[in-house]
Amino acid sequence: ETNLLRTLIAHAKEYGFIYPSSEIYDGLQAVYDYGAYGVELKNNIKKVWWESMTRLNENIVGIDAAIFMHPTTWKASGHVDGFNDPMIDNKDSKKRYRADNLIEDKATEYENNGESAKAEQLLADMNRLLTAEDLKGVKELIESHKIVCPISGTANWTEVRQFNLMFSTKIGSVSEEADVVYLRPETAQGIFVNFLNVQKTARMKVPFGIAQIGKAFRNEIVARQFIFRMREFEQMEMQFFVRPGEEMKWYEYWKEARMKWHLALGTPAEKLKFHNHDKLAHYANAAVDIEYQFPFGFKEVEGIHSRTDFDLKNHQEFSKKKQQYFDTEINQNYIPYVVETSIGADRAFLMVLSNAYTEETVGEGDEKKERTYLKLHPALAPIKAAIFPLVKKDGLPEKGRQIFDMLKYDFNLIYEEQQSIGKRYTRQDLIGTPFCIAVDYETMENDTVTIRHRDTMAQERVHISELKEKIGEAVSI
Ligand code: GAP
Repeated sequence: ETNLLRTLIAHAKEYGFIYPSSEIYDGLQAVYDYGAYGVELKNNIKKVWWESMTRLNENIVGIDAAIFMHPTTWKASGHVDGFNDPMIDNKDSKKRYRADNLIEDKATEYENNGESAKAEQLLADMNRLLTAEDLKGVKELIESHKIVCPISGTANWTEVRQFNLMFSTKIGSVSEEADVVYLRPETAQGIFVNFLNVQKTARMKVPFGIAQIGKAFRNEIVARQFIFRMREFEQMEMQFFVRPGEEMKWYEYWKEARMKWHLALGTPAEKLKFHNHDKLAHYANAAVDIEYQFPFGFKEVEGIHSRTDFDLKNHQEFSKKKQQYFDTEINQNYIPYVVETSIGADRAFLMVLSNAYTEETVGEGDEKKERTYLKLHPALAPIKAAIFPLVKKDGLPEKGRQIFDMLKYDFNLIYEEQQSIGKRYTRQDLIGTPFCIAVDYETMENDTVTIRHRDTMAQERVHISELKEKIGEAVSI
């Protein structure tokens, strides 16, 4: 873990964003709970995504499918046979690793030593061996590069085995015949199996999309980097159904559209980049990641995949139900091709939090001090405004309450009258509240308040009647 990541984890816990799951029992690896401000921030991320998909695009509608699905779904999708990670154990430390992670870390080490060509060759060899499912070859690669366990420092490895990432459980009572079901490892399949239901009932015409936000589960071998890789997480996925042959056009379209979405949320262009996949997932004919510069380096935050007709064709084969669409414009029946955009809500959360976390020195000479704040886009901020009466007397609290009641239907607010106003500002900075509204004696005379801006700490005097419009403008994208 880098220092910055450690700082973010501590900040997230201290200020009510994220706690380890069931912490009183020492937590559960790679599972996390969201606190009072965390849930608001995450909901805002989901809302912005949902609206950008379903409201701004007339040809995209939503769905909310169940987590449990008929087990044959995962046969058809290829997950039962192919959703594996290569796993290896170190016999001395008894630690388990993903073989590809170990190799990637070695490549990074070469890279850092200025041996770029060697790093590239190593990654290319790994991709070739993994695509060919040559697990013996992967083990040999680990040995030939003298990769050691970071804990024991030895190269005493077991064989490389495939490990299926799906969680399973049983449906039905124990006395009945119980069937194995899986917790979905991606939300996408809930969209595929409902493709015709949605197309018909929402009267959609190709090209059209179906969007969904929901939980997904993966038994990740190694859980690393906080909420970057979790065992229970949320995905925001959109499947876009197109005419066969037009998929590359739409792939390019969604690639650009998704990058624009990230930029609109205030993520700087220099911290984002595309990364083309050399090694394609079992369902894709083209795939690109949008990577963000996390505290631990550039890593995937979102994937855009051209999934061909892989999923619908397989569902047709396994279910024996036609998955075809009749295109009245060209008088043809076909199984649509699919371009998918898929982003983890939690990973997007970590991106937003990493990007927002700011430490700066303010003031001069003796007045100099450190300030920490979250520079969140106001649309994402958990609390939009905090209302502070300067003192707890002379009608100021009542006035503050009036303002609170006036704005609470439009914005998530905090009312606070304890402690000094400086302390109250600091507290809001730490959770990223863009506006603090102070009620003072002048307010009692002319109905004006001061707005203190989070990023600049500048204060301005505005009339109470202007508040709604001013905050409203700032919190829209
Ligand atoms: N339907 C396609 C799909 O699931 P993926 O690349 O496996 O593709 C998509 O996952 C996104 O889901 C990733 O870009 C990431 O943001 C998020 N994601 C995947 N595994 C995750 C995990 N273990 N923890 C948190 N987020 C995860």
